[in-house]
Amino acid sequence: MTPREQARQILKDNCHGTYTIPAKDLYPFQWNWDSCFCALGWGTFDEVRAWQEFDTLFSGQWKNGMLPHIIFHKESETYFPNADIWNSQTNPPTSGISQPPVASTLVKFLYERCKDKSEAKKRLHTLLPKLFLYHSWYHTHRCENGLITTYHPWETGRDNSAEWDEALFRVPLKLKGGFERRDTALIEETERPTGKEYDHYVALLQILKSHDYDGQTLHNTIPFKIADIGINSILLRADKDLLWLYQQTGDTKYSDQIKNRISSLENAFDLLWSSECENYGSYDLRTNTIIPVETAASFLPFYAGAVSDDKAEKMLKKLHSWEKQVKFMLPSLDPFHHKFEPKRYWKGPIWPIINFLVATGLKEHGYTDHANRIQEDTRKLIEQEGFREYFNPLNGLGLGGSNFSWAAATYLFWL
Ligand code: DGY
Repeated sequence: MTPREQARQILKDNCHGTYTIPAKDLYPFQWNWDSCFCALGWGTFDEVRAWQEFDTLFSGQWKNGMLPHIIFHKESETYFPNADIWNSQTNPPTSGISQPPVASTLVKFLYERCKDKSEAKKRLHTLLPKLFLYHSWYHTHRCENGLITTYHPWETGRDNSAEWDEALFRVPLKLKGGFERRDTALIEETERPTGKEYDHYVALLQILKSHDYDGQTLHNTIPFKIADIGINSILLRADKDLLWLYQQTGDTKYSDQIKNRISSLENAFDLLWSSECENYGSYDLRTNTIIPVETAASFLPFYAGAVSDDKAEKMLKKLHSWEKQVKFMLPSLDPFHHKFEPKRYWKGPIWPIINFLVATGLKEHGYTDHANRIQEDTRKLIEQEGFREYFNPLNGLGLGGSNFSWAAATYLFWL
């Protein structure tokens, strides 16, 4: 089988009717951003199935607009924390937090590529109010000093990124009851977050649950309150793409509101620039300080279209030094950082979807050499190692889950 045939087969094997699980056993439910990338993959050979992926994802949307990070359509014993632990009291059961809001941008990418435009327009009409509501949730329930806040590392998608360590370990460990991880029974421990990190993830989950996941009350009490450079860049880009999507349908009723949101986020963006690192970073809203850790997400402001020429020059210098330090781009953590671990989840490995987003932004800014290097490295890694969850940037070895849906989708759509 060619890699493209294999990629299609992976999506089909991970397909549960109208949604796609990220990987068998390891992630047996529908995940928010995974699913959006899967839709792009489906869109290359089955447009109807691609739109279904979004429809099923939004069937889990909460009344307040929040789009959960996991939707538990069925039960499974192989994942912790399951639906009972989250106890969302919703139908279908879901987690109580969200994930990076790639949806509107990936709906745009799908729409642009669809051959059947009349079907695509119909689907857009159904999806647009849901996307608008999702963005509204971020801009009202999760906005502070003009920036978008996050209350849990799982919400950033970059669970154990070194950026979160200090804030995460401040979360008091008052665990109610024990718990048993399932991930380390399936994947080597050295490739996953540590036990200490998991204790704090669960402690934070218990705090969120005790407040019924209510953003308004959590706002003052939650110990982990971060403006993630990833979420802020992704939402800024998504706001612009949402405006574009509305324009395709000729509906202008929210144009001014969306434009205001874009400018308020753009105005706050300077808070995310670290002059110490000469790069973008995440901001700790509990200590009111920028976190001096550079990650792959530090380059997502290109994707947001938020980088001025003088900042771009500094960021490209960084990118260049990273290119010389690793064999494959783009490591998830600064390879010069003392916490860099090339095998451990978000503390160093390469993630195909982040590569796709960063390279897209670089290309749009005209930095094609850097974008091409990231794109070609991703292709090489997948073709050599298979559709793995993440890859070691020093030797290229595949890590984490296998037959991974978003690696397959990224390959089909981008590579
Ligand atoms: C996990 O379980 O590892 C996920 O990243 C949380 O969604």
